[in-house]
Amino acid sequence: MTKATFICADGARRDVDVAIGTNLMRAACDHGIDEIIGDCGGALSCATCHVFVEDGYADHLSSMAPSEDQMLDYTAAARQANSRLACQIVMSAATEGIVVRIANPQV
Ligand code: FES
Repeated sequence: MTKATFICADGARRDVDVAIGTNLMRAACDHGIDEIIGDCGGALSCATCHVFVEDGYADHLSSMAPSEDQMLDYTAAARQANSRLACQIVMSAATEGIVVRIANPQV
């Protein structure tokens, strides 16, 4: 089990336990973090799981696939250099303690 922290639009921090191999969109939905919508269930076709990866964690993530890169051009909130789609962040020992700020709005 790993830890991840979501920062919501109001600044509230939600610390959650996430099993290794689980993506952050699924973790947010399983923990009732409604600001992550995840409409497509992780099929990379909705961009409603947009997050900003906080400093220090981006280097621990797998590189972005072209399909994620393309989908990030369709997010409701403006894309930033640290934007990722939570459904593509799969927890591992390397991502232990990751902190992401949830983009607002998602749609
Ligand atoms: S859940 Fe649809 S793109 Fe991430």
